Amino acid sequence: MNKNIKIGFGCDHGGINLKNKLIEVFKTNYEIKDYGTYTPESTDYPIYAKKVALAVASGEVDRGIICCGSGIGVSIAANKIKGIRAVVCSEATSAKYSRLHNDTNVLCLGERIIGFLLAQDICNIWLETDFEGGRHQKRVDMLNQM
Ligand code: RB5
Repeated sequence: MNKNIKIGFGCDHGGINLKNKLIEVFKTNYEIKDYGTYTPESTDYPIYAKKVALAVASGEVDRGIICCGSGIGVSIAANKIKGIRAVVCSEATSAKYSRLHNDTNVLCLGERIIGFLLAQDICNIWLETDFEGGRHQKRVDMLNQM
């Protein structure tokens, strides 16, 4: 594990249980910042996806993990912020390749889609896999120009 990675977490009401459980696990080995939501009342996922995405884009944190019901809404929202490459994953292979080839900096998870242990595995692989660079760097540069 890379203890130097600082992770920003966020969620809406649909992802709050998953976010809180993941923070409990990952706070032992990573520096964590929680951007909310903090209560289970219904709220709007773009608010928290934007907070986490801006924190990643500005360098306040290194990576973001955002949870909502499906993972989809927060991924759409996060990808609107320049410099963000967010991926929604429900299995570990996509999480791994999103790091190797796409240098993703935000991981989105759906609390209503996957269980906690799978989410934990996906996070571990995503946090521990480095970007391959090489031929993939040019493509990421192209994304950054868009
Ligand atoms: C909230 O009900 C739900 O729509 C939200 O958490 C997320 O799944 C949206 O993509």
